[in-house]
Parts: sequence; C-alpha cells; structure tokens
Amino acid sequence: MEWALNRKKRWMVLVGSILVLVQVFVNTSGCFREEKRSLLELKTAYSNHSLLPSWVDDVVDPNSNCCDWECVECDPSSGYVFNLSLSNIRDRDAYGRCFSTPFNWSLLLTFPQLTILDLSHNCFQNFVCQGGLCQMKQIEELYLNDNNFEGTLDPLMGNMTSLRTLDLSHNLLSGSIPASMAMMPSLRILNLGHNNFSGSIPINMFEGRDTSAPIGLHILDLSHNKFSGHLPFSFTISPSLVFINLKGNDLTGKIPNYYPRGDNIVAIDFSDNNFKGHIPESIYSLKSLTFLLLAGNQLQEQLSSGICELRNLQILDLSRNKFTGSIPSCFNNIAFQDVNFVFSRGQRATVSPGGAKRYRTQIFGFKYRMGEVQVKTKGSSRSYEGDTLKIMSALDLSSNQLTGEIPRELGDLSGLHTLNLSHNRLNGLIPESFHNLQNIESLDLSNNTLSGQIPLNLQDLYFLEIFNVSYNNLSGTAPEENQFANFDDSNYEGNPFLHWTNSNRRIPPPPAPLDKRKKDDSAVDFTSFYWTFSASYVTVLLALVIILWINPYWRRVWFYFVEWCLFKCFR
Ligand SMILES: *[C@@H]1O[C@H](CO)[C@@H](O)[C@H](O)[C@H]1NC(C)=O
Ligand SMILES: *[C@@H]1O[C@H](CO)[C@@H](O)[C@H](O)[C@H]1NC(C)=O
Ligand SMILES: *[C@@H]1O[C@H](CO)[C@@H](O)[C@H](O)[C@H]1NC(C)=O
Ligand SMILES: *[C@@H]1O[C@H](CO)[C@@H](O)[C@H](O)[C@H]1NC(C)=O
Ligand SMILES: *[C@@H]1O[C@H](CO)[C@@H](O)[C@H](O)[C@H]1NC(C)=O
Ligand SMILES: *[C@@H]1O[C@H](CO)[C@@H](O)[C@H](O)[C@H]1NC(C)=O
Ligand SMILES: *[C@@H]1O[C@H](CO)[C@@H](O)[C@H](O)[C@H]1NC(C)=O
Ligand SMILES: *[C@@H]1O[C@H](CO)[C@@H](O)[C@H](O)[C@H]1NC(C)=O
Ligand SMILES: *[C@@H]1O[C@H](CO)[C@@H](O)[C@H](O)[C@H]1NC(C)=O
Repeated sequence: MEWALNRKKRWMVLVGSILVLVQVFVNTSGCFREEKRSLLELKTAYSNHSLLPSWVDDVVDPNSNCCDWECVECDPSSGYVFNLSLSNIRDRDAYGRCFSTPFNWSLLLTFPQLTILDLSHNCFQNFVCQGGLCQMKQIEELYLNDNNFEGTLDPLMGNMTSLRTLDLSHNLLSGSIPASMAMMPSLRILNLGHNNFSGSIPINMFEGRDTSAPIGLHILDLSHNKFSGHLPFSFTISPSLVFINLKGNDLTGKIPNYYPRGDNIVAIDFSDNNFKGHIPESIYSLKSLTFLLLAGNQLQEQLSSGICELRNLQILDLSRNKFTGSIPSCFNNIAFQDVNFVFSRGQRATVSPGGAKRYRTQIFGFKYRMGEVQVKTKGSSRSYEGDTLKIMSALDLSSNQLTGEIPRELGDLSGLHTLNLSHNRLNGLIPESFHNLQNIESLDLSNNTLSGQIPLNLQDLYFLEIFNVSYNNLSGTAPEENQFANFDDSNYEGNPFLHWTNSNRRIPPPPAPLDKRKKDDSAVDFTSFYWTFSASYVTVLLALVIILWINPYWRRVWFYFVEWCLFKCFR
C-alpha cells in the first residue's frame, strides 16, 4: 500500500518535471506556436521577404525564435509577444505610395499579452474596432496614425481601459468623439489630428479622468479637424495637461476662463478657429507656458500687460486677429530665449507613462508656422536623443489693428529670432533700440505708418535675413551696408521719401578683386581650364538627362524641384 503510494508520487514527480522541462523548453525557445503562426500570416498578408527578412517559417528554419525577430519583443518572463512595431511594413511603389488594404484585426486576438502595437504608415483602410481590436483590453499604446482608416470611432473603444497612448492622426476618420472615450481611465496621450472629425469636444476630455483620481490627459491633439461649437466657458483643466492643440477647427465662443489647476501646461495652440472676445486673464497665471499660439481667430480688445506675466514664453503668436490699442511696453519681461528644452527628470516622469519618448519629439518637434517663416527646430531628429531640443523664439503680432508707437523696450529682446509687427497701424519711428536685437533673423514691419529714418545701426544685425519695411512712410537715407546690400526694392516698396546714396546698389558688386587675382595667376592654362570645364559640364548635363529619361521617379522629383524654384524665386 505504502509502496503503491510512493510509486504514484514518483509518477507525479516524473510527470511534473517533464512538464517543467517542456515549459522551460518552450520559454527558452521563446515564441508560442500560435503567435508565430499569426506573425507569419501577418507577413504574408501585408509584407514580403525583403521587408521582414528575419521572419522565416518552419520550412526555412524550424528553430527560429520569433521573439528574436525584428519588430517583435516578448515579455522575458511569460514569453508572450508584448511589443509589435509594424510601422511602414508595406511594399511601396516608385513614388513611395502603397495601396489601401483592409487590415484583419482578428489576427491580433492570438496575442494575449500584446501591450504595444504600432501599425502606423501602412495604408490600412478599414474601420477601427471592427473584428476584435477593441476587445484587447490589455493594450496600452496604440499607434494607427498615417493610414487610411475611415468611418467613425466605435464607442467600444472606451472599453480599452488600459490604453495610455492612442494615435489616430492622419487618417480619414469622421463623426464625433464617443462619450465613452472621454472617460477612458488610463488615457494620457490622445492624438486625433488631421482627420475629418466633427461635432463638439466632450467637456470631460479636459478634466481628470475620474473625480477620485484627477489624473487626465498629458497631451491632447485634435488639430486640423472640423470640431465646432463652444468650449465650456469655465472648466477645470487636468493638472497633468502639458500640451493642448486645437488648431485648425471651427471652434467658436470665448476662450475658456478657468485654468486654476493647469500649472504644468507648456503649450497651447488654439490657432485658426473662430474664437472671439479677449484673452482670458487666467491664462496669464500659467507659469510654465512656453508656446501660446492664438493666431487666426477673431480676438479683440487691447493687449493687457498681464501677458507679460508669462515670463517663460518662447513663441507668442497673436497674428491675424482684431487686437487694438498699443503694444504693451513690458514685453521685455518675457524671456523669448531659445530655450534648449531640457527634459528634466520631473518632466519625464509626468509625461512618461506610455510612449513618452516618442511623443517628446512630437510635441516639441512640432512645426510652428509663423507667416512665411517656419520657426522650427534646428538640426535633425537625432538631436532629440540628447533630451534637449532647441526651438527658435518668435513674437508675431501681425495683421491686427494695433496703434501707437513701437515701444523701445522691444529692443531688449536680445534672444528673439523673429519679430513680425506688419499689417497694423503703428506709427512713429523704428526704435534705435532695435540695434540690440542681436539674434534677430526676420524683422517684418511692413504695412504700418512708420516714419522717419531707418536706424543705420541696424546694419550691425548680422543674422538679419528678412527685413521688410514696405508700405510705411519712411524717409531719409536707407542702410546699405553688410547684409542690407542684399535687400532689394521689394523690401522697401511704398516709401516714396526713402533714398539711397548708392544709386545702382541693386546690381550685385562684381567679384572684381577675385578676377584680378586669377589674371595675375597666369600659371593657370585658361584654354585647358575652359575645355575641362565645358567637358564636365556636358557630362553632368548628359548624366542628368539620362537619369531623368530612365527613371520616372527622379524625373518627377526634378520637375517638382524646378517648379518649386520657379515658385520661390519669381513670386
Ligand atoms: C517597442 O518596439 C519598438 C521597435 O522595436 C521600440 O522602438 C520601442 O522602444 C519598443 N517599446 C517598448 C516600450 O519597449
Ligand atoms: C517585395 O518588396 C520589394 C521591395 O519593396 C519589391 O521589390 C518586391 O517586388 C516585393 N515582392 C513581392 C513578391 O511582393
Ligand atoms: C482573418 O484572420 C483570421 C485568423 O487568422 C482568419 O480566420 C480569417 O479568415 C481572416 N479573415 C480574412 C477576411 O482574411
Ligand atoms: C464594454 O463595456 C461595457 C461597460 O463596461 C460592457 O457592458 C460591454 O459588455 C463591453 N463590451 C465588450 C465587447 O467588451
Ligand atoms: C468630412 O465630413 C463632412 C461631413 O461632416 C463631409 O461632407 C466631407 O465630405 C468629409 N470630407 C472628407 C475629406 O472626407
Ligand atoms: C508677417 O505676417 C504677415 C501677416 O500675418 C505675413 O503675411 C508675413 O508673411 C509675415 N512676415 C514674415 C517675414 O513672415
Ligand atoms: C495694408 O493692410 C491693410 C489691412 O490689412 C490692407 O487693406 C492694405 O491693402 C494693405 N496695404 C498694402 C499696400 O499692402
Ligand atoms: C510722410 O512723411 C512726410 C515727410 O517725410 C510728410 O510730409 C508726410 O505728411 C507724411 N505722410 C503721411 C501720410 O503721414
Ligand atoms: C514686404 O511686405 C509687403 C507688404 O506686406 C509685401 O507685399 C512684400 O512682398 C514683402 N516683401 C518681401 C521681400 O517679402
């Protein structure tokens, strides 16, 4: 009897250890068979050998571990796939286009622990949520941007309760935001920009997700849609909100007046809507505000000096509104420095849950269009990796109804790169103090009623590339030295009393000294030089013609380039 029991125990131990071994084997070889099969199905349906070369089936290599495949990451303890980054996996034609294809969501249901899913840039075409995606409650980061997803958002999306990051930007989605989505408990980053959404924005979008835990969105981007209606006149912004972009919608009414808890907010972009009334005073208490863009609305009344409380501003764009009165003289209280945006530990912690790294580049790499000049980050996207980012400072008050003189204090903004005061009714002189705008690259004062002489000391502003004083009533002698030698009449039109000492200043000075030196340097055999030159010229020309002849893609690129040049140079 005892022996029998022991024998039974022994059997159990044996079976147990085999099970453990099998488990270990499965885990070390990674990759559950189901998941491997689904991955291969994904590849055959949407991609091909040359694009995901490490994804091979059992015929090629039966021991291939799908956890080692590119774009796949498995959880080290459970062995299940948790991160699938299938951005840009589709075949492209010579023009970089791919063809719209529906995506089979049910292929994803075989991944029980999938937490991060990136299907961006793939021309997928069907509805979101159809056939299973929204049943995947474990998903935390979902990037479906830059596809052709169409239709409306399914209220079932609100059931994805773990979702922290949702990017549906640059698709063809329409309809309104389902109320269920405004209450997703974990959502921190929501980007619905560049779609065709309409209707009003649910109020609780801005608030804490729920009253007990008032943590809400960090980043909300609803730009370039057709959202309409009023924002609630007073509401509580979640203290966690860092960036809100409502640019390019049809929102009306007043800009909401109540932000007492929004003290982390860095960027507000409400440009190109139909907001009316004045800038609410409560905005001026948002101490960390760095970008305030309200251009292209119907805002009116005088600019309050309260705006100078925003000492950390780097870009202020109030252009294309109906502001009246004079320019506050206190703008010199504002930094307008090129902040090397350093992501401190604290900030990283607040923006961090889910996809922070990726979105850091998106918020602050955002291109702020200021009229014609694109104020954007310098350097390539690589420079983000060092956790710092440089964005150029700008002040744009153009196309309003501002009157009075330009305050001389504006000259104190030595960090400023772009100043646009054009299309107002400013009068008086151009302040001599502008001599101190040592970093200015673009200065547009056109279409005002400024008078008197252009201060000659502006000739010391070496970074100046754009200078426009057209349509004023300036007089006297205009500066002509240094970079001013490059500015032609189109920068001075409509100032009948302005004159130049050098009457043929617009003919570029001939490179005479250089020519002389060449002549003296008669060791150079000019005949042979010209021959070589002509030969290489002809070769290059021929090569170009051949390339354009053979390759339709480069031909198109070339014609675009020529068209662009024509457009740029002769406008
Ligand atoms: C997911 O995978 C992508 C690409 O392999 C990687 O860039 C990203 O950092 C991964 N995300 C996480 C949270 O590991
Ligand atoms: C696979 O992709 C490459 C590169 O995009 C393409 O040249 C090739 O035709 C594709 N093959 C198939 C079978 O689609
Ligand atoms: C989608 O994938 C599932 C699972 O592999 C499969 O059963 C189904 O036939 C597929 N549907 C379509 C339309 O391809
Ligand atoms: C979605 O959530 C609601 C409410 O929590 C629940 O009643 C419903 O069954 C869920 N739907 C699915 C498909 O999980
Ligand atoms: C956007 O939606 C409107 C209706 O709200 C529709 O009339 C229009 O055609 C849609 N535009 C695009 C580009 O889908
Ligand atoms: C200044 O603003 C006006 C109107 O807002 C715009 O047309 C112009 O291009 C801007 N100037 C520069 C140099 O960007
Ligand atoms: C100056 O601006 C006003 C208002 O923007 C416009 O009516 C006028 O035509 C402009 N004048 C010139 C010369 O551009
Ligand atoms: C323009 O300036 C001249 C003097 O430089 C003055 O005589 C004239 O009245 C001014 N015109 C206007 C419209 O202010
Ligand atoms: C200067 O400003 C005027 C009026 O705003 C505009 O017509 C002209 O094109 C501008 N010149 C240059 C060189 O930008």
